[in-house]
Amino acid sequence: MDAGIQLGPWRLRQAAWSGLGVVVEGLEGRGAPADYVDAVLLSAAHRDAFFALVDRVGLVVCKGVRGDDDALKEVRGRSSRGRLSQGEFFHHDGCTGPVKPRVVEIRCPYQDVERYTSTAIAPFPEVVEAMLHELPAILRAGIGDTAIDPDLLQGTVSRAVRRALSPEEQRAYLRRVDLRVGAYREPWEMGETRFIANANGGRTMQHRRAYLEPHTGGRPNGRLLKRWPAEAGDPLDAEACEI
Ligand SMILES: [Fe+2]
Repeated sequence: MDAGIQLGPWRLRQAAWSGLGVVVEGLEGRGAPADYVDAVLLSAAHRDAFFALVDRVGLVVCKGVRGDDDALKEVRGRSSRGRLSQGEFFHHDGCTGPVKPRVVEIRCPYQDVERYTSTAIAPFPEVVEAMLHELPAILRAGIGDTAIDPDLLQGTVSRAVRRALSPEEQRAYLRRVDLRVGAYREPWEMGETRFIANANGGRTMQHRRAYLEPHTGGRPNGRLLKRWPAEAGDPLDAEACEI
């Protein structure tokens, strides 16, 4: 499936976008369903081709999605001013559990409160290279270059950053990493859902909860929902669901 392709009587309308991934503005055509993600993209007829597209481009952002959000689970966010949560560092979903989902879907549903915390999405392992580049020289010296495995290297760098930098310095560091690697971190719109390639044999992405401004707390924040749409029965554990 190509974004822009005809899906039965309808056509995916793609936004002009030169950054990471593909941005879909909606489904065009007479009688196009407003819940076009569930009704069309994830329908039995199109889901395999749609997941193949996500695998290939890494990120598919779908806007203007109305419909039933009940199939998705609430995402918790536990960041505080004093301490970063694990979810603020780049990660694949399922990296510590038994299931590594092929695709992660994160959605900002229509709601009263705007979502101001961003979600940064970046290609892996390029993001690890960016983490090394942006690392203060004094910390880089301690890392060495023995760790070839990008997962191990990323763990080492993240631990060094957590140990040596203050929470706001860590957030500023991660923002520099976002910029260097060209992460997708556009502001969330209500009705926007993002499909992120998370585990496959080719191009995968990592994501993180991103504060684009210093985190001062106390500001009401819209909620996000999530699911692993390619996994049978969606084994996503809501308790472990963080961003
Ligand atoms: Fe996550």
